[in-house]
Amino acid sequence: MRFMLLAFMVAGAEAGPCTPVDSCPKLSDGLYCPVNDVTEHADINRDVKLVKDYLAETPLNYAMAKEVYTAGNFSSKGLGNMRTLQDLAQKDMTVDGKYTNVPLQNHKGP
Ligand SMILES: *[C@@H]1O[C@H](CO)[C@@H](O)[C@H](O)[C@H]1NC(C)=O
Repeated sequence: MRFMLLAFMVAGAEAGPCTPVDSCPKLSDGLYCPVNDVTEHADINRDVKLVKDYLAETPLNYAMAKEVYTAGNFSSKGLGNMRTLQDLAQKDMTVDGKYTNVPLQNHKGP
């Protein structure tokens, strides 16, 4: 989870705390309840599933898979803008030329 939150922060997305603290909606897995409302961020996993489903069609539905990959479908950034898998894949996730997950590689666990 820490990695996901870090990735969201790096992506410049805002995810405010829920008030009251335990009131955030569960994510689409129906199990995990975050302390910040990251529902829209997490819904990018629904785009992954959609792409997977289009690629499982016979014949492969590349056109629709590409549409979801490039335009997004479930993960809104607000104001009509969609978070897309393509944007995430192409975004420079480095800071000062270094990958930002380095601290996590050194993480020793709880
Ligand atoms: C996006 O999601 C909606 C709601 O589930 C669905 O009806 C629509 O077909 C999806 N769009 C694509 C391109 O799959």
